[in-house]
Amino acid sequence: MICKLKIKTPMSTKTKFILISLTLISTLGLAFSVSLHRATEKEYVSISPLKNDSIASVEAFKQVYKVLMSPRCVNCHPKGDIPLQGDNSVIHSMQPKRGKDGKGLYAMKCANCHQQSNSPGLNAPPGNPNWHLPPADMKMVFEGKTAHELAKQLVNPELNGHKNIKMLIAHADDGLVKGGWNPGEGRTVPPLTYAQFKKAWITWLQTGAYAPAQ
Ligand code: HEC
Ligand code: HEC
Repeated sequence: MICKLKIKTPMSTKTKFILISLTLISTLGLAFSVSLHRATEKEYVSISPLKNDSIASVEAFKQVYKVLMSPRCVNCHPKGDIPLQGDNSVIHSMQPKRGKDGKGLYAMKCANCHQQSNSPGLNAPPGNPNWHLPPADMKMVFEGKTAHELAKQLVNPELNGHKNIKMLIAHADDGLVKGGWNPGEGRTVPPLTYAQFKKAWITWLQTGAYAPAQ
């Protein structure tokens, strides 16, 4: 009996210690995972609608629309299968075709002429490592669209390249978008600064992505 107790006592202290440690560790772990979860939730909340506000949203989109319809954007978002060029958005000389993946066809691959960065000189091709049109099965046409039509199209995952609001917000930092403000010699920049555009774009999306009536 005594012998049993003697052995049991130190063991149970040890066990208690282990149990307490385990409880502490798992409590900490739980607290940590809860706080991680909270952080992710917060991040998500901060980019989902701050507050639906149709007036602020429509106002922001009207600014965004001016940029989308500028030659720097519309030239790569044409309704046909040939890009446009210049400040007057005329059909691209030599008529390179979109192709299935938007990267051109046969000998007329976009990257043959459009380098990693702008080629120097007037009428030289602008450059970007990713220079191409949207693909044939998702043309993302801007040309000829009203503000109403374009606002609806941009948030439709079936038409915008399967983008959710978070991905659309991130697209403001896309290299081809930013390239609009570094278009190469002789080309005008869009009518808003890049910072103004990005602000309007995010405001539009965060306030509910409402479309103007027309
Ligand atoms: C070199 C051609 C090119 C230029 C120039 C270009 N884009 Fe694009 N754009 C693309 C391609 C290709 C895609 C499809 C890639 C993707 O979905 O990520 C795209 C996709 C988009 C999308 C997502 C599609 C949607 O319907 O939501 C937006 C928004 C967009 N572009 C805005 C712009 C803006 C704004 C400019 C001008 C400042 C611009 N683009 C200039 C080629 C271009
Ligand atoms: C044979 C060479 C060549 C090929 C191939 C080519 N381009 Fe170009 N591209 C040019 C040149 C040169 C310019 C500049 C024209 C000018 O400014 O007069 C240009 C200009 C453009 C512009 C106008 C940019 C702006 O902001 O006004 C767009 C858009 C464009 N190309 C898209 C494409 C796409 C998309 C492809 C592939 C489907 C392609 N190009 C294939 C040579 C080419």
